Amino acid sequence: MAIAAPPDLRPANPNFSSGPCAKRPGFTLDALAGALLGRSHRAKEPKARLAEVIERSRAILGIPADYRIGIVPASDTGAVEMALWSLLGARGVDVLSFESFGAGWATDIVKQLKLPDARVLDAPYGRLPDLSAVDFARDVVFPWNGTTSGVRVPDGAWIPAGRAGLTICDATSAAFAMDLPWDKLDVVTWSWQKVLGGEGAHGMLVLSPRAVERLLTYKPAWPLPKIFRLTSGGKLIEGVFKGETINTPSMLCVEDALDGLRWAESVGGLPALIARSEANLAAIAEWATRTPWIGFLAEDPATRSSTSVCLRIVAPWVTALPAEGQAEIAKKIVSLLEKQGVAYDIGAYRDAPPGLRIWAGATVETADITALLPWLDWAFAAVEAERLPASSRAAE
Ligand SMILES: Cc1ncc(COP(=O)(O)O)c(C=O)c1O
Repeated sequence: MAIAAPPDLRPANPNFSSGPCAKRPGFTLDALAGALLGRSHRAKEPKARLAEVIERSRAILGIPADYRIGIVPASDTGAVEMALWSLLGARGVDVLSFESFGAGWATDIVKQLKLPDARVLDAPYGRLPDLSAVDFARDVVFPWNGTTSGVRVPDGAWIPAGRAGLTICDATSAAFAMDLPWDKLDVVTWSWQKVLGGEGAHGMLVLSPRAVERLLTYKPAWPLPKIFRLTSGGKLIEGVFKGETINTPSMLCVEDALDGLRWAESVGGLPALIARSEANLAAIAEWATRTPWIGFLAEDPATRSSTSVCLRIVAPWVTALPAEGQAEIAKKIVSLLEKQGVAYDIGAYRDAPPGLRIWAGATVETADITALLPWLDWAFAAVEAERLPASSRAAE
């Protein structure tokens, strides 16, 4: 079977990775020219830049004035681990595990911290656990957006305003692309490498007054390494929330984070960032409804992520294959597109069901998504042309 000619239009930016994510439109290294390199991060100007990251993040995301925001080591993972190790154990905990990252937090809680009263509320890839089963008398740990399944919680309506436990939300692929109801969230984390296209390095940790209260009134039974410690002598280390990082940050990454934040402001702030991501999802969804070979991994459209869009190949000749065969088809599509230079890093996450994952966060232009879609059809048709005769014979 002859392979159709490739589409004429190519995405201007072929970067669709789910992290590190595409840099903001127009980014060049010149944006970092003013970085305070070779300076102490404790000196006045560098510290002011760190504080500027905090305050610009607060302004864009609408984080309440009485919530603390800190820049912490080790990206989002560092921020989440700090919260788990510092806060959990005071009461029972419910952890929502519906893809790889939530599953990782559940493992830490059950197998590393060994909390005796931990409930894991799990769901397979593509679904959410039963949110009505969550007990908010307990602490609750959950990812807002499951980056590896493309499933997000639909909103914060399932979280009561008055609750005894803390809500600890890993929002790394949600912050700056989705509305986060701050009054429902006690701990929120994200990393710079996601929605604003920053560099992988540091994490952000947001604490509500109730989370701070927990830090001040509860001492975990286990030792805490220095990079997790947020209190000293029974007092909050306030400097962490003013740009006095626990250990040395990269001032190059700080400059880059500021560039991303300034870009976010220049396009219209959070509503514009959300609109950009939603427009990307809408473009993919419109294509998916008229494309018989593709489907969303997220079963309920209300839970479809607008950032990490996870797709399944649903052509019957593909779904008839065992999982490894399906993964092989997806990999062929991914590598064809990579070879063409039109899409990088769009394979499903290693632990997720086989398929494609397209980052559609705020730094991705909708024009690039719409340019990519015909290439997906082209690559699938090419793989099908190569494979179908053999698979038809197998089916006879
Ligand atoms: C939901 C979620 N949690 C945690 C992480 C880990 O983030 P990092 O590598 O920034 O620590 C990721 C990364 O993709 C993620 O998507």
